[in-house]
Amino acid sequence: MSVICVIGTGYVGLVTGTCLADLGNTVTCIDIVQEKIDRLNKGILPIYEPGLEEMVERNVQAGRLRFTTSYPEGLENSEFIFIAVNTPTGNNQGGADMRYVESAARSIAENLDHYAIVINKSTVPVGSGDVVSRVISNNLKSPDASFSVVSNPEFLREGAALLDFQNPDRIVLGSSEPEAAHKVARLYLQLRAPFVITDLYTAEMIKYASNAFLATKISFINEIAQVCERLGADVKQVAVGMGYDKRIGHSFLDAGLGYGGSCFPKDVRALAHMADEAGLHPQMLRAVMDINHDQRRLVVTKLNNLLGSLRGTTIGILGLAFKPNTDDMREAPAVDIIHWVTSQGAHVRVYDPVAAETGREALMRENVNLQDVTFCKTSYEVADQADALVVVTEWNEFKSLNMQKIRAAMRQPILIDGRNIYEPSEMSRYGFTYRGMGRATSPAPSILPAGDTTSDMSGQVAQETLIASES
Ligand code: UDX
Ligand code: UDX
Repeated sequence: MSVICVIGTGYVGLVTGTCLADLGNTVTCIDIVQEKIDRLNKGILPIYEPGLEEMVERNVQAGRLRFTTSYPEGLENSEFIFIAVNTPTGNNQGGADMRYVESAARSIAENLDHYAIVINKSTVPVGSGDVVSRVISNNLKSPDASFSVVSNPEFLREGAALLDFQNPDRIVLGSSEPEAAHKVARLYLQLRAPFVITDLYTAEMIKYASNAFLATKISFINEIAQVCERLGADVKQVAVGMGYDKRIGHSFLDAGLGYGGSCFPKDVRALAHMADEAGLHPQMLRAVMDINHDQRRLVVTKLNNLLGSLRGTTIGILGLAFKPNTDDMREAPAVDIIHWVTSQGAHVRVYDPVAAETGREALMRENVNLQDVTFCKTSYEVADQADALVVVTEWNEFKSLNMQKIRAAMRQPILIDGRNIYEPSEMSRYGFTYRGMGRATSPAPSILPAGDTTSDMSGQVAQETLIASES
């Protein structure tokens, strides 16, 4: 087993450090925020991530995981040093801000006194491995210190981070020293995943291209959703029909309010910026971002179409987090939507299972007047005297609400389903004026597994009848 140091205890750093400890390694996590380290040493996590608290506690108890702000302590005897600090969007037209990665590299250089492999885990622009090399070489203090640099991008999703770390689709490693990349690969052997071992630039690019492609799939289906709405088709059925084509696949074809979070928005911006800097015109990436921005605005358009001016109305909002199973509010659609409707004079009633606190902070950061926002304890409280209800985050608990009770509590039965979690025909039966994202109100599809003629077909078309009708 190895001695590992991880710099940064955010989503990526804390999950990476804890999971590597859980594989049997001895891990020290460093973070510059003293308060975060003090809370972590009391077992209090800075983030909500399912299963992480138990795993942190188990590995701290076992003496395999510890937290410090001290670089000398963290780097002591470390064979591998992971950089997992934030790379937010800088103020240079969307490019990634590398200040924190460079400051972490400088701190490594000033405290390293032996050979170690430095691994970039943060999402960093193409060429950043060289930047890290240069910063460390220029600031090395100890004559006994030496290092190699490896790029090892992370692909974990928030809300499913432990699962994604332990069951990666692939492990990507890039370095100008293949031996160093192979040493890092050995850390992941127990995960039994395929390795892509390549050069630094290509590894860095794989991360951006992967995120940008997933964001493109989302913006594509959202554009199709708008076409469906105008032509009377149902985007959910369209996505199912498309997804059976193995070249397309079912995942990341959920039309809705578009993507948010700490990664897609900033990574697509950063990639477009890199293309610009390289003298190219990233038309597709620009379109992906424009479609995504417009998508969340559509909710306000639908509300204005149904309610006219929102002045004096009450709008119920279900969900704050940028997606379910996280409390992360970074680039969350809810913040923009609440900002836009309160700016029109509406009062908002909102509920989120875990992101109420982070949501309140995010709204304040965006200068939303919290007088205009009531934080509720349940979805039913949100519906109370509401003129419309908007589903913003597709938490599971919203899918099994008593919609009759919701309807009865509302002043006007208007339901904007920003994540297409309900069936249009069913909601109409409850008496809602229902608007999904790209949903025509046609009956639910019948999808029979290939060759299945036995399953209960009440309300569904028997295979034979299908074949008969086609001949
Ligand atoms: C990180 C990367 O920022 C992002 O590029 C990548 O896509 C995902 O991983 P995340 O883990 O979500 O994102 O970042 P964040 O939650 O902001 O955590 C970064 C941590 O690094 C913070 O705890 C911060 O205090 C710490 N940090 C930052 C340091 O310890 N040192 C620094 O110099 C800067
Ligand atoms: C993403 C990548 O999936 C992950 O590999 C990378 O390491 C970090 O960025 P994350 O941001 O946690 O992970 O969330 P993800 O589940 O990918 O969702 C991103 C956004 O896209 C969310 O706002 C989600 O609501 C939206 N989304 C996702 C859709 O609108 N439709 C979909 O079909 C899928």
